[in-house]
Parts: sequence; structure tokens; C-alpha cells
Amino acid sequence: MAEKQAFFESELVKDFNNKIEKDHLGPLWSAIPELVSKEPKPLAVPYLWKWATLKEYLLEAKEIFTPERGGERRAIYLQNPGLKEREPWGWGAATQNLYAAVQLILPGEEAPSHRHTQSALRFIMDGEGAYSVINGERMFMNEGDFVVTPQGMWHGHGHEGTEPMFWMDVLDIPFVYATGGTFFEGHPDGLEKATHPDNYSSKQYQGGLVRPKADRQPKKAPVGAYTWAQTESALNGMMEYEPDAYDGYTVEFINPSTGKTANANIAAWMQRLPKGFHSQAHRHTNSSIYYVHEGRGYSVIDGVKFEWEKGDFFIIPSWCWHEHVNLEDGHSHLFSVHDTPIMENFSWQREEEADHKQAIKKTFQPYG
Ligand SMILES: [Fe+2]
Ligand SMILES: [Fe+2]
Repeated sequence: MAEKQAFFESELVKDFNNKIEKDHLGPLWSAIPELVSKEPKPLAVPYLWKWATLKEYLLEAKEIFTPERGGERRAIYLQNPGLKEREPWGWGAATQNLYAAVQLILPGEEAPSHRHTQSALRFIMDGEGAYSVINGERMFMNEGDFVVTPQGMWHGHGHEGTEPMFWMDVLDIPFVYATGGTFFEGHPDGLEKATHPDNYSSKQYQGGLVRPKADRQPKKAPVGAYTWAQTESALNGMMEYEPDAYDGYTVEFINPSTGKTANANIAAWMQRLPKGFHSQAHRHTNSSIYYVHEGRGYSVIDGVKFEWEKGDFFIIPSWCWHEHVNLEDGHSHLFSVHDTPIMENFSWQREEEADHKQAIKKTFQPYG
């Protein structure tokens, strides 16, 4: 073994590798352990962003970046430090495949309609009175609501409320960028005019378990906005029973006409961790982005303690051990997104469960 190692580190090998590199060729004998590793070795790192930091920057940005000055959206994205070397712009990567940002829209502002091959979803963090126009329907959004705009659907935003409004945007930008499928188109009217009554699709689905007869055949997004009241009601119904050992009480946002995830490439969950909950550790090949909707606690990711409270975001990269602990004197609610559909579609999804809690080696500190 040592002999083999010494050979691959020898001048003979190095010189040859350097020689072929000049002609844009690569030596598989040296590259294979990293390119085809025995198990996932994500470049993304576990990380956490405090809401106070993000909010301060967004409020500063509101003075500088106005809709008249362009820029499509006033949004600041989470750049994973482990993926920042990707050119250009770190591929907007919070995880290997997913992008996440916080967007701020002010009363009276409009963000023009556009469509793209990336799929998007939104989780409303704070405020009320803003709406998304999705394929001709204005959907009004309040804190805790979930909104979905799968690929190719027109979407723009406006705000008729009186206070600043913040929401989380999630897209599969890094995945689409890597696979070369990017197309983008601006709407000819700027903000698309509404052609349907406001909140039409949400009203059609307010019963939850029944669908309009017209939706018997699967649609890409039969419902655009999912209300917090409905999500909360589903979680309340689960509380009579024991929580899942790894994820507490969890519901997944679905496309009611297919039963699959609301967004074909991105799974989205609302998770309730009851008082005193400390999950078992597990790991999986899908990566995850968490947003703390309510409560406080911590997650242990590969032996590092990530302390979180309302408004914070944190990343669980592929194949990292993790467990969640609720410290709130009541429930904590975590909204999360996962690239599970991508991993499942390519048969790459694997999970492993631990029968013990992790030892905490240190507490996370933001990188300087
Ligand atoms: Fe968009
Ligand atoms: Fe997990």
C-alpha cells in the first residue's frame, strides 16, 4: 500500500501527469480516488446564517437596489463557502444542487414577470399583502404560506400591503447550470396582467382532500399557494401519535394532481419538533436547506453544534450525519427543502440511520 502511494507521489508520475495536462488531458490513475470516491464527499459544507445579518443587508439593499434600477429581484442568496470557487457567482449554490435566497419587496413595488427552466418555490417569512402573479393568477401571500412555480411558468410579484415583505426563494439553479438547461425569458408586459380571479387555485383546493373535477388529469401546478392554516392543521392531526424518530412531525408539500412533490425537482417540508424533542441521527445523499420558521434549538451536523432560532438558515450537505434538538418551551417549526427528487430520479438516494446520538466536538462559528 505504502509502495503504491509512494509511486503515485513520485516524480515519474507527477512529471507525466503535468506533461499530458498541457494538452488538456487528465490522468485517471491519479484522479479516480477523488472523482469516484467510495462514498459522497460533498464540497458543500454545513453552514448557518443568522437572520439578523441577512435582514441588515437587505434593509441596506432596499435603498440601493430599486425596481427602477433593474436587477429583476432584490434578493440576497446563501453562498455555501465550500462551493464559492465555482465560476461564475459560485453557481448560486447553497448546496450541490440548490439555491436559496431571501427576497425583500416594499409596499407599492413590482418585480417583473419572467419564466425560466429553473423551478422555484417560496416560503413567506414575514409580512402580508404581497402577491405573486403565476400564469395569470394573483396569489396573495402571508407569513407561513408556501408558493410554488415549477419550471416554465410565468411569475412576477407585487405588494399592496403597508410593511416590507420578506420571503425565502428556492430554485434548482446549480443543478440546471451544471446540466446546461438554462433558458430565461422576460414577460412582454413587465408584470403580467391577471386573467383569473385572485387566489383562484387556493380556493379550489381549500378542502384539501378533494380536487376540482377539471383537474382529474395531472397538471404541473394545479395549486400555487398553500396556506399556513392548512399546513398547521395537518401537523395538529399528527400530534396524537409518536413523532418520527429522525424528523419529528413532518409534512411534504405535494402536487395534488400527481401526489408527487409540489415542485418536480425540489422537495419541501414543514417539520414540527415537539417540546423536548431530540431526534436520532441519520444521513442521506440528498442535501437540505433549513429555515427556522418558529422556535429555537440546535442541530448537530457531523459532530458540530449549530444553534438556531427563528429566521436562521442552515445547510445539511449530502451524507452528513445530523440530528435536531428543540429547546423551545413548545413546538419549533422548521421549513426545509431537499434535492431528494433529483437523487431519486437518478436512483442515487440512500439513507443510513445511526442508533446513537452524536458526540458534540464543537459549536459552529461563522467563517471570517
Ligand atoms: Fe424567477
Ligand atoms: Fe435528514
